[in-house]
Amino acid sequence: MAILGSGIIGTDLLYKVQRSVNMSCGCFVGRRESSEGMRRAREMGVPISSGEVGFLLANPGLYEIVFDATSAEAHKEHSRQFAAIGKMVFDLTPSHTGTPVVPTINAERLFLARDVSLVSCGGQAALPVIHAVAGQCAGIEYIEMVNTSASKSAGLATRLNMDEYLETTEAAIAEFSGCGRVKCLGLLNPATPPVHMRVTITVLVRQYDTERVTRAVRDAVAAVRRYVPGYTLIADPVYGEGKITILLRVSGRGDYLAEYAGNLDIINAAAVYLGDLYSERLRQRRASATAQLETA
Ligand SMILES: NC(=O)c1ccc[n+]([C@@H]2O[C@H](COP(=O)([O-])OP(=O)(O)OC[C@H]3O[C@@H](n4cnc5c(N)ncnc54)[C@H](OP(=O)(O)O)[C@@H]3O)[C@@H](O)[C@H]2O)c1
Repeated sequence: MAILGSGIIGTDLLYKVQRSVNMSCGCFVGRRESSEGMRRAREMGVPISSGEVGFLLANPGLYEIVFDATSAEAHKEHSRQFAAIGKMVFDLTPSHTGTPVVPTINAERLFLARDVSLVSCGGQAALPVIHAVAGQCAGIEYIEMVNTSASKSAGLATRLNMDEYLETTEAAIAEFSGCGRVKCLGLLNPATPPVHMRVTITVLVRQYDTERVTRAVRDAVAAVRRYVPGYTLIADPVYGEGKITILLRVSGRGDYLAEYAGNLDIINAAAVYLGDLYSERLRQRRASATAQLETA
C-alpha cells in the first residue's frame, strides 16, 4: 500500500499500518521533504517521495492500494487518476466522491468499489450508533451530531475542509439512517491540555422502545471497540420529550499524537481494518489463481 499526504492523518495512519497483518507501506508520499511526517517515515525506514501523486502514477508497481490523506479538492483529481490506472483508493478526505463504508455497517461494499470513502472522523464515530438507533425506530424526524476535537489534532487541510466535512457527514448520516433532516457541527477546541474527541448525537423520534434502543447502541459500541478500543459510550442513552441523546468519547492509542486525538484513530483504524480485509481478499484470489495454474 501507499499513503499520499504526509500531514497529521497520513502520519498517524503510517504508525497504524506498521501493526497491520496484511499491509505494509511501500511508499509514503507528500510534497515537502522537510515535513514532520516525512521525517518520521524516514526514521522508520519507510521509502518516501515528495513527488506528490505523479510519483505514484509513475511507479504503480510499488503498491496495490492507495490511502489518500491530502485534501478533499486534491482527492477528486486523484480519484480519476488512480481509476485510470486501475488502482483501489481509500479516501480519508471528505471529498464525497467514493462509496461510503463503515466497518460495522457495510464493510462488504468495499469489494464493489474502486474509491472507498471513509466519510470523516465524525462520521465514523457517529454512524455505527445512528445506524443502530435507526434500525430500532420508525419515524425518525431529525438527527443532529456535534463533534468536538482538540485543535492540535486538526491540520491545515482539515481546517480548509470544514464545509466538505459537514456536507459529506450529513449526506452519509442521511444515507445510513434514512432520515432526510440531518445537521452536523464540527468544533475545534483549543483548550490545554487537549480535550479527547467527543460526539453528541440527538435523534428526534416519535416512538421508541428504550430497552431495545439501549441494547442496540451498546452492541454497536462494542463492535467499534474491536478496532478502536478507546471508543466509549459515556452513559446509556438518555430518553425524554421525543428525543434520544447519546454521548460518546473517543480516545486514541497515542500513535502520532497523544491519546486525546481519538479523531485520528476512529478514521485511521477503520481504514486499516478495511485495507486489511481488501488485501486478504487479494491474497486469496492470487493463491487460488496460482493453484489453478499449477493443476492445469
Ligand atoms: N485531522 C483530523 O482529525 C481528520 C480526521 C479525519 C479526516 N481528516 C481529513 O484528512 C485530510 C488531511 O487532514 P490533516 O489534518 O492530516 O491535514 P494536514 O496535516 O494539513 O495534512 C494534509 C497533507 O497533505 C499534503 N497535501 C495536500 N495537498 C496535496 C497534494 N495535492 N499532493 C500531495 N500532498 C498534498 C499536505 O502537504 P504540506 O505538508 O506540504 O501542506 C499535508 O502534508 C483532510 O481532508 C481532513 O479533512 C482529518
